[in-house]
Amino acid sequence: MIIVAPSLLSADLFKLSDQLKTIEASPAAYLHVDIMDGHYVPNINFGDKFVREVRAQTDLTLDCHIMVENPEQVVFDVAKAGGDILTFHPETTRHAYRLIEEIHKLGKKAGIAFDPALGISAYEDLLPIVDQVLVMTVSPGFGGQQFIEAMLPKIAEVKKWRAEKHAHFDIEVDGGINAQTGRQCVNSGANVLVAGSYVFGNGIQESIQKLSQL
Ligand code: DX5
Ligand code: ZN
Repeated sequence: MIIVAPSLLSADLFKLSDQLKTIEASPAAYLHVDIMDGHYVPNINFGDKFVREVRAQTDLTLDCHIMVENPEQVVFDVAKAGGDILTFHPETTRHAYRLIEEIHKLGKKAGIAFDPALGISAYEDLLPIVDQVLVMTVSPGFGGQQFIEAMLPKIAEVKKWRAEKHAHFDIEVDGGINAQTGRQCVNSGANVLVAGSYVFGNGIQESIQKLSQL
């Protein structure tokens, strides 16, 4: 069962309430909200205020992708604002293990994200306690970038690790996902597909429909 997570980075903010209604009528189960600080990634966008406003409009799961240095300074505000899944990049904090435990204490799901340049071995010890592993399929920071096909073996590696260790996390991919690259990711082991420009640049309903059936 594929979970589709439209990325609001590519939404038309002046039409957001209409676009949210369209997404709610589609098979999408998550809304992906990118939070960027202009330090870890060279771009700045949504924060906890936006998460709170989206939360007030929808019951969809808010899948928050936190691309900031020192995520412990923003994760709790995003959680309080109504984020459901809090995924951060482990190299941005000194205490990733503790942060995952603290997210769980709030009753939220915790994820870790692997930048394309980061192998999973450095953070393997976190995998037994996370709810989601995000394999980035572009360098984080911008929508509309080209899918990096060389990430497919990493997805398969994460899936293999999960089977060997009897772990239970979801495997999410983010960056350059469309029907074709999404299929490749699903074949490699991903079950959560984030898509921004593909969903909002084409028919929202039909592109979500296509991704959900991969
Ligand atoms: C990029 C973000 C993505 C972005 C994906 O750093 O994490 O969520 O919205 O956009 P597309 O699907 O256009 O590559
Ligand atoms: Zn993202």
